[in-house]
Amino acid sequence: MAEYKVAWLPGDGVGNEVMDCARIVLDKLKFDAEYLPGDIGWEFWKHEGEALPQRTIDLLNKTDAALFGAITSKPRDEAAEELDPKLRDRGLTYFSPIVRLRQLFNLHTNLRPCKAYPGNPLNLKDDIDIVIFRENTEGLYSGVEFHPVPEDVFKALKAAHPKMSKFEKFALEDIAISTRIMTRGGCKNIVTQAFEYAKKFGRKSVTVVDKPNVLRETGGLMIRTAREVAENYPGIELWETNIDAQCMWLVKNPQNYEVMVAENMFGDILSDLAAQLIGGLGFACSANIGDNYGVFEPTHGSAPKYFGENKVNPIAMILTAKMMLDWLGETKKADSLEKAVAEVIREGKVGTYDVGLSNTNIEVAEEIARKL
Ligand code: IPM
Ligand code: MG
Repeated sequence: MAEYKVAWLPGDGVGNEVMDCARIVLDKLKFDAEYLPGDIGWEFWKHEGEALPQRTIDLLNKTDAALFGAITSKPRDEAAEELDPKLRDRGLTYFSPIVRLRQLFNLHTNLRPCKAYPGNPLNLKDDIDIVIFRENTEGLYSGVEFHPVPEDVFKALKAAHPKMSKFEKFALEDIAISTRIMTRGGCKNIVTQAFEYAKKFGRKSVTVVDKPNVLRETGGLMIRTAREVAENYPGIELWETNIDAQCMWLVKNPQNYEVMVAENMFGDILSDLAAQLIGGLGFACSANIGDNYGVFEPTHGSAPKYFGENKVNPIAMILTAKMMLDWLGETKKADSLEKAVAEVIREGKVGTYDVGLSNTNIEVAEEIARKL
C-alpha cells in the first residue's frame, strides 16, 4: 500500500494541464502516493448544480491531503445562467467550491510564499522573499450577506447602531450588506502561525496588515490581538500597516518585508500583488492548511482562454506540490524539488511564454524532473 493517499482535483481549465505537470515531478521524486481523482468545478455546477459534490467531500475525508489545480468562479447571476435548464427551478445557488472546502475542512491558514528566484526575468526586484499568512475562513468570506436586506435585519442593525439610520431612506431591495466577521480566535491563530514561522526560519519581523483607522472594530481586534501574540516572541518585531499604504510599499520596497499576516480579503489582495513582484501568478504557490488536513492549490485561476494550449507556467503548481511534500513531512523531497525549480529558472533555457520562452508546460516540468 502506498504511504499517502492524495485527493487529485484538477478542477477547471488549465488546472488539468498543470496537475499533469505536477505529476511528472512527483513521479520522478518517487513520492509514494495513491492518487484518488475527485470531481470539482464548473462542469459539476453546470450539470449537477453542485461544484463540490458530496462524493468529493467523502473522498477528501479518506485522504491525507488534496492537490488542487484551478477553479472557475463566477458571480451568482452568471453562474445561474450557465446552469443546465433542467436544474433551473430548484433554487440552486453557486458557491465557490474552494471557499467551501476551506470552510468545511476548517483550513484556517492560507500560506502564500512569494520568492524571487534568481534569474527570473519577471522579478520586480531581486531578493524578494515574502511569506503571506492569510486567514482563510472568516472575514468577508464568512458568507453572511444580504440582498435584499430582510426587514428584521435592518431593524436590528438600526437599533444597535446609530449610523444605520442614514440608510433608512432606501428601499430594502436597494441595499446590499456583506459582513466582515472576525473572531479573536481566528486572529490569534493566523498571527501565531505567522510568528511561529518567523521564529522557525529566523525572520526578524512580522507585518500585520489591516485598516484599523477605518474598520475600527474588526481591524482593531486584529491589531490588538497581534500585539498580544507578539509579546510571546521577543526577538521578532511586529510592524503594523494599513492595507492601502502596504500595497504601495510592497511595490516600492518589497525586500523590507519577510512575513506578512492579514485577514481573508486583505490577504487575498496582498497575495496577488506580492505574486506579481516575483513573476506573476505563474510562480505563486499556495496552501490551505487546517489542523488535520491540507488542500494545496496554486494562487492562479483556471485561465479558460489558455486551456488546451499547454502554455501556462506550471511552476506555481509544482511549487504548490512542494508545499504539500513539506506539510506531509517529506522535506527532503520538497527541498530537492525546490532546488530543481530554482535551477531551471536560473538557467533560463526552458520556460513558458510568460518568461519570454516558448516551451510547453510539460516540457518545463520534464526539465525540472531531469534535475531531480
Ligand atoms: C484565491 C482566489 C479565490 C479567493 C477565489 C477563486 C474564490 O482568488 O484563492 O486567492 O478569493 O480566495
Ligand atoms: Mg485571490
